Amino acid sequence: MTTAVEYDGAEAGGKPEAENYAHESVKTRDSRGGKLRVKGPALSQDELDVLRQPLQLPFSGRTAKNRFLKAPMTERLCQWNKEGEDISARGFPTAEYERLYQRWGEGEIGIVVTGNLMLKYDAVEGYGNAILCDDHDNRVEAFQRVTSAAKKHGPLMIAQLSHPGRQGNAVLNPNPVSASDVQLQVQWMGTRFNEPRPLSVDEIRSMVADWGETAYLCHRAGFDGVQIHCAHGYLLAQFLSQTTNKRTDAYGGTLENRSRIVLEVIAEIRQRLADPSFVTYGRGRFSVRIRAVL
Ligand SMILES: Cc1cc2nc3c(=O)[nH]c(=O)nc-3n(C[C@H](O)[C@H](O)[C@H](O)COP(=O)(O)O)c2cc1C
Repeated sequence: MTTAVEYDGAEAGGKPEAENYAHESVKTRDSRGGKLRVKGPALSQDELDVLRQPLQLPFSGRTAKNRFLKAPMTERLCQWNKEGEDISARGFPTAEYERLYQRWGEGEIGIVVTGNLMLKYDAVEGYGNAILCDDHDNRVEAFQRVTSAAKKHGPLMIAQLSHPGRQGNAVLNPNPVSASDVQLQVQWMGTRFNEPRPLSVDEIRSMVADWGETAYLCHRAGFDGVQIHCAHGYLLAQFLSQTTNKRTDAYGGTLENRSRIVLEVIAEIRQRLADPSFVTYGRGRFSVRIRAVL
């Protein structure tokens, strides 16, 4: 069986659940119109009230004030390096980024997950991505301003940690790395992807440590947890998928081997954040986003 990743065309089997429900047409203001929207089953007031109730997260013991979760949506609002400027100027939170999270925070949402927060300056999903891998320019403090603004109204604030692997456009990611050298062949609107270089085992170890470092910096910056992005065809999904992982070492082949890097990232984060002030969050204060059919 194959693992579905963003662009490799692998498909889940069976009928989409949405087909069980009636669809309705929606008129839009422009001439395109006629978009389809799924009409879900009617909910009773009691069922709707559940959304207002607090939710205790079983592993961390933290409580979300209600059951709404803001999905990760890449913001592309952070500072970017100018031509010729060092790339470590990238990814610094701007006033716009802070303001965005202040507004999400005002939205009475139980859990706010950020969009892609990148682990490296040279491996990004797009211009304007947030990046947190060191504190050379006091960016931890800048991220602290963002988390304080968002948390004023009580949501839990989760950073989505992300690395694009082969799936970062060639202009911003000229020398991509991945599980194997399987190039993403998709091209659109001038975007193309370079052939990735497989990570060596030593590089995987160093990459795992990077995940731990970013999680540690996120903790310092006031995030309540991190989500490890293993979905949408990014680096960790490239390890999980047989389409993109052709390795014959301990990180390829069986599902256990293909998952190894993810489990190592989790172990590394636990180890890096094992300080007493974090104990109240307990085990599993991270979350993993997987979009896969195994
Ligand atoms: C503008 C935009 C940016 C997104 N950025 C991310 C992202 O950074 N990380 C991620 O995991 N998903 C991202 N997504 C996917 C969303 O989290 C979500 O899964 C998707 O919009 C489907 O939402 P729905 O299930 O409510 O329809 C993005 C979606 C949109 C529309």
